[in-house]
Amino acid sequence: MTSSDLWTRDDAERYDDPDDWVNSAEVTGPVARLLAELAGDGPALELAIGTGRIGVPLRELGVPVTGIELSQPMVDVLRRKVDEATIPVVVGDMAAAEAPGVGTYSLVYLVFNTIGNLRTQEEQVACFANAARHLAPGGRFLVEVGVPGLRRLPPGSPAIPFDVSAAHLGFDTYDLVTQQATSHHYTRDADGRFRYGAHNFRFVWPSELDLMARLAVMTPESRYAGWDRSAFTSESTSHVSVWRKPE
Ligand SMILES: C[S@@+](CC[C@H](N)C(=O)[O-])C[C@H]1O[C@@H](n2cnc3c(N)ncnc32)[C@H](O)[C@@H]1O
Repeated sequence: MTSSDLWTRDDAERYDDPDDWVNSAEVTGPVARLLAELAGDGPALELAIGTGRIGVPLRELGVPVTGIELSQPMVDVLRRKVDEATIPVVVGDMAAAEAPGVGTYSLVYLVFNTIGNLRTQEEQVACFANAARHLAPGGRFLVEVGVPGLRRLPPGSPAIPFDVSAAHLGFDTYDLVTQQATSHHYTRDADGRFRYGAHNFRFVWPSELDLMARLAVMTPESRYAGWDRSAFTSESTSHVSVWRKPE
């Protein structure tokens, strides 16, 4: 039984919003290109593939892609774009599910903050182990996730706003004891009314992820601030980290 929230049919139908910048080729292109480079000649496995925002463009670059995904509605939306033969998907929990070709992948990747959807340390550790067992010797595990924004949380304040605009109000609340957090979204729909949605996650520091990789017998290869391979610094708000399984 996973601690992850299950993404619903409503979530899935809204996910590919063409007006949302994160779905633009400007965003997905550089992600797919770096993933293709890291995969080399081998196949890739996307943990939590969703509707294929990244998996589909990566497949279009010629990389064989397989997915693991918890939400059947998200897979149903993916299936409007590509069939099972083009991108096979196992419906299951990324911390435990086994994809065909276990042990042969040159790249396993988990992007867009989704490691946080596993809301216990135990499951995040299990996810690293699951990634490692799917990799071929020498293969890479890549995670993209935000750095917890705690430097922006003043003492006594319950929340950090991350978007305040006419169409959307977004803020994060953090529980510093349990490492649980929630992103709250108030989004204005076409009729002018605001719709509330929330995503729960476990925030995790880069150093804790390094330890999870070490437990899964993988070694750090690189850490960037973004998909352009810019340097990760103390000011970085996000990171793209890569670990390798020994040859
Ligand atoms: C932010 S979306 C990311 C989807 C896709 N990777 C992307 O970049 O667009 C998070 C996805 O993680 C999936 N997910 C959450 N918990 C999961 C779990 N334990 N195992 C597999 N998938 C999970 C959700 O169903 C959802 O599709």
